[in-house]
Amino acid sequence: MPLTIAIDGPVGAGKSTISDEVAKRLGILHLDTGAMYRAFGLYALEKGVDPMDEENVCSLCAEGSVQVDVRYEDGKQITLLGGRDVSGLIRTQEAGSAASAVSRYVPVRAMLVRRQQEMAMEQPMLLDGRDIGTVVLPNATAKIFLTASPEVRARRRMLQLREKGDQTPFEEILREVNARDLQDTTRKLTPLRQAEDAVLVDASDMDFEETVQAILAVVEAKHG
Ligand code: DC
Repeated sequence: MPLTIAIDGPVGAGKSTISDEVAKRLGILHLDTGAMYRAFGLYALEKGVDPMDEENVCSLCAEGSVQVDVRYEDGKQITLLGGRDVSGLIRTQEAGSAASAVSRYVPVRAMLVRRQQEMAMEQPMLLDGRDIGTVVLPNATAKIFLTASPEVRARRRMLQLREKGDQTPFEEILREVNARDLQDTTRKLTPLRQAEDAVLVDASDMDFEETVQAILAVVEAKHG
C-alpha cells in the first residue's frame, strides 16, 4: 500500500490548511474528504431534496446518476459533481450544513468512503476528515487526531469571518462550534472519535508552523 496519512479532528481545528501544508512538504497529494460530503450535500440542494430527508437523499444515491469525484490541478484539489467543478460552490454555510446532514446516511458514506479508499490505493496521499483513521484507512501509515479547545477554534473561525466582513458575535460562533461537535460525535454512524492508534495533537497553544512540525514529527516517527 502506498504511504497514507490520516488526519481527523473536529470542525475548526485547522485540518484543511494544516493538511495542505503537511502534504506539500511531504510532496504528496491531500484529499479533503469533507469536500466530497459537501458536494453531495450540494447535489441534494440542487435537486430540491431536503438534506434531512433520509429516504429521498438515499434514493439520490441509489440512482447512481451523479458522481462525486476529485481531480488535481498543479497539486490542488478540484472537487467534481457529475464532472462539474463545484470547488467554490461547496464553501458556503448552506453546503456545510447539508454535508453534515447527508453524512449521517449509510449509502452516502458507503459511496464516498469507497471512492476515498480507491484514491488512497493509487498514490501516496494525506486524507483529512472525521473517520479516516477509524474507517477509511484503518491501516494508515500514520494517524493524527488534530484538535484544539472549542474557544480557540471559535476564535479562529471568528477571525476568518471578520476578514469577510461578517460580525457574528463570538458567543454565537462558540455555540455553533459546540453544536457541530455534538452532532459529529454523537451521530450513530461512525461518529468522530480518535482512533486507538492515532497520535493526539492538541494545537490550542501552537501556531501554524508548530502544528505542521508536530504532525511531520509523527509521520517521521512512523514512516522514517
Ligand atoms: O470538514 P468539513 O466541514 O468540510 O466537512 C463537512 C461535513 O462532512 C462535516 O459536518 C462532517 C462531514 N464529514 C464526515 O462525516 N466525514 C468525513 N470524512 C469528512 C466530513
